[in-house]
Amino acid sequence: MMTKIAPSILASDFSKLGEEIKDVEQGGADYIHVDVMDGHFVPNITIGPLIVDAIRPVTSLPLDVHLMIENPDQYIEAFAKAGADIITVHQEACPHLHRTLQLIKSFGVKAGVVINPATPAETIKPVLQDVDLVLLMTVNPGFGGQSFIESVVPKIQQVADWREEQSLSFEIEIDGGVKEETAPICIESGADVLVAGSAIFKEEDRGQAIEVIRHSVKA
Ligand code: DX5
Ligand code: ZN
Repeated sequence: MMTKIAPSILASDFSKLGEEIKDVEQGGADYIHVDVMDGHFVPNITIGPLIVDAIRPVTSLPLDVHLMIENPDQYIEAFAKAGADIITVHQEACPHLHRTLQLIKSFGVKAGVVINPATPAETIKPVLQDVDLVLLMTVNPGFGGQSFIESVVPKIQQVADWREEQSLSFEIEIDGGVKEETAPICIESGADVLVAGSAIFKEEDRGQAIEVIRHSVKA
Protein backbone atom coordinates (compact mmCIF):
# COMPACT_ATOMS: atom_id res chain seq x y z
CA MET A 1 0.00 0.00 0.00
CA MET A 2 1.16 3.51 -0.76
CA THR A 3 2.65 5.36 2.19
CA LYS A 4 0.34 8.03 3.56
CA ILE A 5 1.70 11.49 4.30
CA ALA A 6 0.38 13.61 7.18
CA PRO A 7 1.76 17.17 7.06
CA SER A 8 2.03 18.68 10.54
CA ILE A 9 0.57 22.19 10.55
CA LEU A 10 2.90 23.05 13.43
CA ALA A 11 5.47 24.08 10.81
CA SER A 12 3.00 26.04 8.69
CA ASP A 13 2.43 29.80 8.55
CA PHE A 14 -0.38 30.28 11.09
CA SER A 15 -1.25 33.72 9.71
CA LYS A 16 -2.69 31.90 6.67
CA LEU A 17 -3.48 28.49 8.08
CA GLY A 18 -6.44 27.83 5.78
CA GLU A 19 -4.36 28.41 2.64
CA GLU A 20 -1.52 26.31 4.02
CA ILE A 21 -3.89 23.38 4.56
CA LYS A 22 -5.39 23.72 1.07
CA ASP A 23 -1.89 23.81 -0.37
CA VAL A 24 -0.88 20.45 1.14
CA GLU A 25 -4.26 18.93 0.32
CA GLN A 26 -3.73 19.86 -3.32
CA GLY A 27 -0.18 18.58 -3.02
CA GLY A 28 -1.43 15.08 -2.22
CA ALA A 29 -1.50 14.93 1.58
CA ASP A 30 -3.54 12.09 3.11
CA TYR A 31 -4.16 13.47 6.61
CA ILE A 32 -3.75 16.85 8.27
CA HIS A 33 -1.71 16.31 11.45
CA VAL A 34 -2.70 18.67 14.25
CA ASP A 35 -0.28 18.98 17.19
CA VAL A 36 -2.02 19.94 20.41
CA MET A 37 0.31 20.93 23.28
CA ASP A 38 -0.64 22.11 26.74
CA GLY A 39 2.57 23.42 28.31
CA HIS A 40 2.46 20.60 30.89
CA PHE A 41 2.91 17.28 29.12
CA VAL A 42 5.32 19.04 26.75
CA PRO A 43 7.17 22.34 27.17
CA ASN A 44 5.21 24.24 24.53
CA ILE A 45 1.65 25.50 24.00
CA THR A 46 -0.04 25.31 20.61
CA ILE A 47 -3.66 24.99 19.67
CA GLY A 48 -7.01 23.90 21.04
CA PRO A 49 -10.44 22.76 19.81
CA LEU A 50 -11.21 26.26 18.49
CA ILE A 51 -8.60 25.91 15.76
CA VAL A 52 -9.73 22.38 14.89
CA ASP A 53 -13.25 23.75 14.52
CA ALA A 54 -11.97 26.61 12.33
CA ILE A 55 -10.00 24.38 9.94
CA ARG A 56 -12.68 21.66 9.70
CA PRO A 57 -14.54 23.31 6.78
CA VAL A 58 -11.29 24.12 4.94
CA THR A 59 -10.38 20.53 4.05
CA SER A 60 -12.01 17.20 3.32
CA LEU A 61 -8.93 15.33 4.58
CA PRO A 62 -9.09 13.50 7.91
CA LEU A 63 -7.89 15.65 10.83
CA ASP A 64 -5.32 13.59 12.70
CA VAL A 65 -5.24 15.16 16.14
CA HIS A 66 -2.18 14.36 18.28
CA LEU A 67 -2.88 15.27 21.89
CA MET A 68 0.31 16.07 23.79
CA ILE A 69 -1.61 17.01 26.89
CA GLU A 70 -2.13 15.84 30.44
CA ASN A 71 -5.55 14.54 31.39
CA PRO A 72 -6.75 14.09 27.79
CA ASP A 73 -10.11 12.64 28.95
CA GLN A 74 -11.16 16.14 29.89
CA TYR A 75 -10.79 17.44 26.32
CA ILE A 76 -11.64 14.50 24.05
CA GLU A 77 -15.29 15.45 23.65
CA ALA A 78 -14.37 19.02 22.65
CA PHE A 79 -11.90 17.82 20.00
CA ALA A 80 -14.39 15.25 18.69
CA LYS A 81 -17.14 17.85 18.41
CA ALA A 82 -14.72 20.28 16.74
CA GLY A 83 -14.29 17.75 13.93
CA ALA A 84 -11.31 15.51 14.70
CA ASP A 85 -11.35 12.24 12.71
CA ILE A 86 -8.55 10.56 14.63
CA ILE A 87 -7.62 11.39 18.21
CA THR A 88 -4.31 10.05 19.49
CA VAL A 89 -3.37 10.06 23.15
CA HIS A 90 -0.04 9.47 24.86
CA GLN A 91 0.23 6.26 26.85
CA GLU A 92 2.38 8.27 29.29
CA ALA A 93 -0.56 10.61 29.99
CA CYS A 94 -3.24 7.91 30.39
CA PRO A 95 -3.31 5.84 33.60
CA HIS A 96 -6.57 4.24 32.38
CA LEU A 97 -5.67 3.73 28.76
CA HIS A 98 -8.49 1.39 27.69
CA ARG A 99 -11.04 3.74 29.19
CA THR A 100 -9.58 6.73 27.36
CA LEU A 101 -9.56 4.87 24.03
CA GLN A 102 -13.18 3.79 24.57
CA LEU A 103 -14.08 7.39 25.33
CA ILE A 104 -12.59 8.52 22.00
CA LYS A 105 -14.53 5.82 20.13
CA SER A 106 -17.76 6.70 21.91
CA PHE A 107 -17.80 9.91 19.86
CA GLY A 108 -17.44 7.99 16.59
CA VAL A 109 -13.81 9.06 16.22
CA LYS A 110 -10.86 6.78 15.43
CA ALA A 111 -8.61 6.12 18.42
CA GLY A 112 -4.83 6.23 18.39
CA VAL A 113 -2.17 5.62 21.01
CA VAL A 114 1.31 7.17 20.98
CA ILE A 115 4.53 6.60 22.88
CA ASN A 116 7.61 8.76 23.34
CA PRO A 117 11.00 7.56 22.08
CA ALA A 118 12.10 6.24 25.49
CA THR A 119 8.84 4.39 26.22
CA PRO A 120 9.00 0.65 25.46
CA ALA A 121 6.59 -0.76 22.87
CA GLU A 122 5.44 -3.34 25.48
CA THR A 123 3.52 -0.55 27.26
CA ILE A 124 0.97 -0.41 24.43
CA LYS A 125 0.79 -4.14 23.67
CA PRO A 126 -2.32 -4.56 25.86
CA VAL A 127 -4.33 -2.07 23.79
CA LEU A 128 -3.36 -3.06 20.25
CA GLN A 129 -6.80 -4.64 19.66
CA ASP A 130 -8.45 -1.40 20.71
CA VAL A 131 -6.73 1.11 18.44
CA ASP A 132 -7.03 2.30 14.86
CA LEU A 133 -3.57 3.86 14.91
CA VAL A 134 -0.26 3.42 16.71
CA LEU A 135 1.92 6.51 16.61
CA LEU A 136 5.61 6.13 17.41
CA MET A 137 7.47 9.33 18.26
CA THR A 138 10.92 9.62 16.73
CA VAL A 139 11.61 12.88 18.63
CA ASN A 140 10.70 13.96 22.13
CA PRO A 141 7.49 15.86 21.48
CA GLY A 142 7.17 19.60 21.96
CA PHE A 143 8.76 21.18 18.91
CA GLY A 144 9.08 20.80 15.18
CA GLY A 145 12.41 20.63 13.41
CA GLN A 146 14.18 18.18 15.75
CA SER A 147 16.43 15.30 14.69
CA PHE A 148 15.07 11.81 14.09
CA ILE A 149 16.02 9.42 16.90
CA GLU A 150 17.29 6.35 15.09
CA SER A 151 17.04 4.01 18.09
CA VAL A 152 13.22 4.03 17.77
CA VAL A 153 13.39 2.11 14.48
CA PRO A 154 13.33 -1.42 16.02
CA LYS A 155 10.06 -0.47 17.75
CA ILE A 156 8.42 0.10 14.37
CA GLN A 157 9.32 -3.42 13.32
CA GLN A 158 8.24 -4.79 16.71
CA VAL A 159 4.79 -3.21 16.49
CA ALA A 160 4.43 -4.30 12.85
CA ASP A 161 5.31 -7.88 13.89
CA TRP A 162 2.69 -7.87 16.67
CA ARG A 163 0.12 -6.52 14.23
CA GLU A 164 0.78 -9.40 11.88
CA GLU A 165 0.88 -12.05 14.63
CA GLN A 166 -2.46 -10.87 15.96
CA SER A 167 -4.00 -10.24 12.51
CA LEU A 168 -4.80 -6.65 13.42
CA SER A 169 -5.19 -3.75 11.01
CA PHE A 170 -4.27 -0.54 12.84
CA GLU A 171 -2.04 1.90 10.99
CA ILE A 172 1.51 2.61 12.15
CA GLU A 173 2.42 6.29 12.05
CA ILE A 174 5.83 7.89 12.65
CA ASP A 175 6.28 11.45 13.92
CA GLY A 176 9.40 13.56 14.30
CA GLY A 177 12.33 14.38 12.06
CA VAL A 178 10.82 12.60 9.07
CA LYS A 179 12.38 13.73 5.79
CA GLU A 180 13.80 12.27 2.60
CA GLU A 181 16.76 10.70 4.44
CA THR A 182 14.85 9.18 7.37
CA ALA A 183 11.60 8.12 5.66
CA PRO A 184 12.94 4.98 3.91
CA ILE A 185 13.90 3.17 7.12
CA CYS A 186 10.44 3.91 8.55
CA ILE A 187 8.67 2.58 5.48
CA GLU A 188 10.90 -0.52 5.34
CA SER A 189 10.22 -1.20 9.02
CA GLY A 190 6.46 -1.25 8.53
CA ALA A 191 5.20 2.34 8.84
CA ASP A 192 2.05 3.26 6.91
CA VAL A 193 1.76 6.97 7.71
CA LEU A 194 4.57 9.50 7.96
CA VAL A 195 4.07 12.84 9.72
CA ALA A 196 6.29 15.63 8.43
CA GLY A 197 6.28 19.27 9.49
CA SER A 198 9.42 21.14 8.48
CA ALA A 199 10.22 18.84 5.57
CA ILE A 200 6.94 19.90 3.92
CA PHE A 201 5.97 23.37 5.12
CA LYS A 202 9.48 24.82 4.89
CA GLU A 203 9.62 23.87 1.19
CA GLU A 204 8.25 26.15 -1.51
CA ASP A 205 6.60 23.34 -3.49
CA ARG A 206 4.62 21.32 -0.95
CA GLY A 207 3.38 18.81 -3.51
CA GLN A 208 6.90 17.98 -4.51
CA ALA A 209 8.03 17.79 -0.88
CA ILE A 210 5.23 15.29 -0.17
CA GLU A 211 6.15 13.13 -3.16
CA VAL A 212 9.85 13.19 -2.25
CA ILE A 213 9.06 11.75 1.19
CA ARG A 214 6.46 9.29 -0.08
CA HIS A 215 8.76 7.84 -2.72
CA SER A 216 12.06 8.17 -0.88
CA VAL A 217 14.28 5.14 -1.09
CA LYS A 218 17.30 4.04 0.87
CA ALA A 219 20.46 5.77 -0.36
C1 DX5 B 1 6.48 17.07 17.72
C2 DX5 B 1 5.19 16.99 16.93
C3 DX5 B 1 5.45 16.70 15.50
C4 DX5 B 1 6.20 17.78 14.80
C5 DX5 B 1 6.96 17.18 13.65
O1 DX5 B 1 6.20 17.42 19.01
O2 DX5 B 1 4.37 15.98 17.45
O3 DX5 B 1 4.25 16.38 14.82
O4 DX5 B 1 5.38 18.80 14.31
O5 DX5 B 1 7.77 18.17 13.09
P1 DX5 B 1 9.04 17.80 12.21
O6 DX5 B 1 8.56 17.01 11.04
O7 DX5 B 1 9.57 19.16 11.83
O8 DX5 B 1 9.98 17.03 13.08
ZN1 ZN C 1 2.64 15.21 16.16
